[in-house]
Amino acid sequence: MANQLLAGKKGLIFGALDEQSIAWKVAEKAHEEGAEIVLTNAPVALRMGKIQELGKQLGAEVIAADATSNEDLASLFDTSLQILGGKIDFILHSIGMSINVRKKKSYTGLNHEWMHKTLDISAMSFHRVMQIALQKDAVADWGSIVALTYIAAQRVFPDYSEMADAKALLESFARSFGYHFGTEKKVRVNTISQSPTVTTAGSGVKGFDEFLSYADKMSPLGNADASQCADFCVVMFSDLTRMVTMQNLYHDGGFSMMGINPSVLIDS
Ligand SMILES: NC(=O)c1ccc[n+]([C@@H]2O[C@H](COP(=O)([O-])OP(=O)(O)OC[C@H]3O[C@@H](n4cnc5c(N)ncnc54)[C@H](O)[C@@H]3O)[C@@H](O)[C@H]2O)c1
Repeated sequence: MANQLLAGKKGLIFGALDEQSIAWKVAEKAHEEGAEIVLTNAPVALRMGKIQELGKQLGAEVIAADATSNEDLASLFDTSLQILGGKIDFILHSIGMSINVRKKKSYTGLNHEWMHKTLDISAMSFHRVMQIALQKDAVADWGSIVALTYIAAQRVFPDYSEMADAKALLESFARSFGYHFGTEKKVRVNTISQSPTVTTAGSGVKGFDEFLSYADKMSPLGNADASQCADFCVVMFSDLTRMVTMQNLYHDGGFSMMGINPSVLIDS
């Protein structure tokens, strides 16, 4: 049931590909909570994905932008500011992709050209988005910027491969840019570290199903799903969290605090 937590707010949401995408659920919940939004994704995702359906469903404009292109991002912000008729109150960065993971390259045998792409798409894009948003003064005071991340930035999950390094960089950008956005614009920047979740990006990781079930058993509350992640994003966009910034916030049913959960041993 909606509480109009985002009534009157304007948002820009990156990364809704299909119904499973976390960004898809965030867009639906943000709309339900009264926000007006613009959706964006890479040009190929507009051609192949279902984002246009979501746009129709929510009455939201869909704009193509490759998050590794400063030119695309600059034009995205200009158009979004026009469509929304004012500054943006919240931004969701929900972008990740690794060709090395897709092609099942081992961590010790990575293709470094592809690794550049992974870091550019999955991490540097966050810096680009924030830099362009700040330069264009596109975010309203007390606005909120959130990126999605994973605990492999802190602990070793070998099959997550180079995405772990990309997430470590992403989280670092949230802290570093959080300082600048906070002092210059009173805008907060945080990352949400989500449980493993069944989506196109998630399922690309080797042994994902087994891992999903392991994480579920390890977490006292079980894995958080995409819809629950969207609820948390809404709270982070709302005025209820105005003084939270530069944090990596775990949304994982308690997984990050566990050493061992006896239920994992009993079942194995
Ligand atoms: N699924 C999980 O288990 C899980 C867990 C923790 C964090 N996350 C993170 O959540 C975020 C969203 O992933 P998801 O699981 O919803 O999967 P998803 O595949 O639905 O979303 C990834 C999105 O990135 C977009 N993208 C890729 N390259 C792009 C580019 N060059 N420019 C713009 N967009 C581009 C894709 O089109 C897609 O919409 C990612 O950052 C992911 O790492 C996912």
